[in-house]
Amino acid sequence: MLIADPVYAIEKSYDENYLEGPVFHGRIPKTIPEPPPVSFLGISSNSRLGIPAGPLLNSEWIGFYARMGFDLLVYKTVRTHAHPSYSAPNCLYVSVSGDLTPEALSTPLIGIPRIEPGSMRDITITNSFGMPSQDPSVWQKDVALARTKIGRGQVLIVSVVGTERGGESIGDNFARAAKMAAEAGAMAIEMNFSCPNVKGSEGQLFQDPQAAGEIARRVRRELGTSTPLIAKVGYIESDIAARELVRAVAPHLDGIAAINTLSATIINPEGRPALPGEGRERSGVCGNGIRKAALGVVSRLAREISSQKLSLSLIGVGGIMTVEDVDLFLSAGADFAMTATGAMWDPFLAYHMKQQNLR
Ligand SMILES: Cc1cc2nc3c(=O)[nH]c(=O)nc-3n(C[C@H](O)[C@H](O)[C@H](O)COP(=O)(O)O)c2cc1C
Repeated sequence: MLIADPVYAIEKSYDENYLEGPVFHGRIPKTIPEPPPVSFLGISSNSRLGIPAGPLLNSEWIGFYARMGFDLLVYKTVRTHAHPSYSAPNCLYVSVSGDLTPEALSTPLIGIPRIEPGSMRDITITNSFGMPSQDPSVWQKDVALARTKIGRGQVLIVSVVGTERGGESIGDNFARAAKMAAEAGAMAIEMNFSCPNVKGSEGQLFQDPQAAGEIARRVRRELGTSTPLIAKVGYIESDIAARELVRAVAPHLDGIAAINTLSATIINPEGRPALPGEGRERSGVCGNGIRKAALGVVSRLAREISSQKLSLSLIGVGGIMTVEDVDLFLSAGADFAMTATGAMWDPFLAYHMKQQNLR
């Protein structure tokens, strides 16, 4: 059996998907009676499954996936100012056999616009958007609308990112974005720490525990303690790196989400850059191929949280394509699980999990 086309039209632009999506021709399943709720950072949730920052472009998308039974819904990363998306395509299939390791990613991967996947295991993709954002005057209203589109036991989280700009430090900009999101109606805030680190010389914020800790402290001060705060991190390769990061950010956070995409060079079958435009030679890989790497990071973080006896929740993300994969993450120590690529190709994933009486 072939897998149906994704609800996010990957051949179309971000703007088209923002205005026209999601594409869904099926029937919304009947709500399955919910078992007793679980606590998501102190907020009542019907289940432990959600969708991370990415496919939920606006309140239309949030409303759709809420009706499909996903209970933890992260609004795609927003900024304090409007920022355009890279041009289409923003997602390509990548051909991968087996699990991707960071070492395997040192050689280019081939990206192609279309395949006919025979199973969810065939779906590894790359995504490259450049973290677009609507102007706050647009997204703040839309976050408020999204709140009206979720049901009881569902949680709206807004992902924010900060940048150093116009004399404002990255920490101050992160704090302002978080405050705007909370004022608009976010029930929890996620900071995208898998963005470039402008303070350190290279790499991303989560790879610089001191900078990450400082920003988390700054944002917490702005938000106060009533809004749960999460940091989203990327691939962490060692126990020591996990320990240092957890130690630095834990005092200011309620949760850590891991992982974001793995970075790779993507070429077309002719050997040229597969994505159009400058600065897009490398892009983020997600979906089936990154599950093993993600599980490794989740185990590492879970061990640190437990050995440091911290009350920090862990959200496992990366390569969850089936109901069984959700279990793998919960068994590896995650308290919650989220799927981006999996939910784009199988919007019934939450329904199937609940049918099996799992949550
Ligand atoms: C279409 C798409 C857009 C994404 N946009 C964001 C984003 O704006 N912010 C963010 O933190 N992560 C973003 N991500 C990364 C996901 O949140 C997730 O960490 C990654 O895709 C791994 O999960 P997956 O294998 O289930 O897709 C995006 C992923 C996809 C597929």
